[in-house]
Amino acid sequence: MINLKPIIISGKEVFPLVEGGKGINGSDGRSSGAWAHENCVGTFSGVSPDYYDNEGHVIFERYLKKDRKERHEEMIEQSIKGGIAQAQVAHEVSGGNGRIHMNMLWELGGSEAILNGVLEKAKGLIHGVTCGAGLPYRLGEIASRFGVYYYPIVSSARAFQVLWKRAYNRFVEYLGGVVYEDPWLAGGHNGLSNAEDPNSPQTPYMRLVELRKVMNQLGLEEKPIILAGGVWSLNDWKDYMDNPDIGKIAFQFGTRPMITKESPISDAWKKLMLHLKNGDVVLQKFSPTGFFSSAVKNTFLERLMTRKQGEVSFVAEANGDYTHPLKISETKTVYIKPEDAEKAQRQINSGYTEIKETPDSTVVFLTPNEWKQMKEDRKNCVGCLSQCQFSSWSQANGSTGRLPDPRSYCIHKTLYDVSHNGSIMDNLLFAGHQVYRFATDPLYRNGIPSVKELIDKIKCGE
Ligand SMILES: Cc1cc2nc3c(=O)[nH]c(=O)nc-3n(C[C@H](O)[C@H](O)[C@H](O)COP(=O)(O)O)c2cc1C
Ligand code: SF4
Repeated sequence: MINLKPIIISGKEVFPLVEGGKGINGSDGRSSGAWAHENCVGTFSGVSPDYYDNEGHVIFERYLKKDRKERHEEMIEQSIKGGIAQAQVAHEVSGGNGRIHMNMLWELGGSEAILNGVLEKAKGLIHGVTCGAGLPYRLGEIASRFGVYYYPIVSSARAFQVLWKRAYNRFVEYLGGVVYEDPWLAGGHNGLSNAEDPNSPQTPYMRLVELRKVMNQLGLEEKPIILAGGVWSLNDWKDYMDNPDIGKIAFQFGTRPMITKESPISDAWKKLMLHLKNGDVVLQKFSPTGFFSSAVKNTFLERLMTRKQGEVSFVAEANGDYTHPLKISETKTVYIKPEDAEKAQRQINSGYTEIKETPDSTVVFLTPNEWKQMKEDRKNCVGCLSQCQFSSWSQANGSTGRLPDPRSYCIHKTLYDVSHNGSIMDNLLFAGHQVYRFATDPLYRNGIPSVKELIDKIKCGE
């Protein structure tokens, strides 16, 4: 039996159970409101959230401007409307219970403007903001200005220390807690640092103890750590509870709430997840943000993986090991190693005839259709990220100055599409590495549970 004691989160006593924010539209007002309704914490995503017309129908994103910078402004405007709409839905569904949080991706283009815009117009509806992917230095200042609690998402004690020293020490009151997200297990983007090996996962225990030690040294004994990544059943985490080395702790569930009645993802996506096996989720680095991320190995991801496997390094002028000419366009020939010649030819023979340079002096091979689509996706870029490896868009300068990377993809397009009934095979499906547990968990044997049913089971440790 689990002895789950309520704790104070964002100024209110609630159960220490949190629904993780999931963009785009992977967690919304309906799901977060349902979690709050059960006196837990629900988190809607602030990344391109849906908003509605007077009849309650979703207004699909529209981009009317030709210029990418102007489309970026349109994206911000629509995201603010969406954030406000989801906060209102969440508030209504919650019945005033629990806590409602909003999730922001710091590396989202215009993240500060979106946060400011939503918090300004949704006063009293949002109690906390969680923010990861990058180092959200300005989060503390923005949230404190609106009297809203803030929760940086970090994957190491060191990352929190950096944030604290540079900014958060001045905004202690509204620091609600720290989300520790396991960079080897969590769904979505993963905060692996250069020093950490994606193939050598570390258990969270010592990393949490270290984080708590740092927090205590800074006088943050009362602030909870919210553990995210690989949390399925609390029976697995008994030694983390009532443990003085870890202190106050809450548990964040990202993947598991995706199969609930209130979860906004499509039925096809839920059905697919119910049948996944261990190993079907891959930790990889194709995201245009440059971060690692964890997603289901479907057609979309497999294609990126084979493209990467087919990658060949080159030089512009023949020298040393690079002596084999490879014509990559009507006007350009580069030189590859003779031992790569067969690999290149095999791809060309299989129809991957568009040979495209990456920013790392390598080439990858695409079909003419893939290349056509890639050009189209870049043309339609709405500047959703502060910097994008796929299109070279940069919010600060218009361009990163680097070559657009054909090993990556437009994350905005694919996440928006899959969250609006798009293909579950040809789009990116973020998921945590424990997703295979759906297949054997008895909770899902008789159909899809409601959020209340899921939380009741979680409270029993199941
Ligand atoms: C489909 C999906 C989308 C996600 N999107 C975001 C996001 O936009 N921002 C974020 O901070 N975390 C995001 N996450 C991470 C979750 O909030 C949560 O921390 C993580 O899923 C916990 O690990 P778990 O998947 O093992 O439960 C996402 C996770 C999933 C599965
Ligand atoms: S190409 Fe796509 S992912 Fe990159 S900034 Fe533009 S909209 Fe975002």
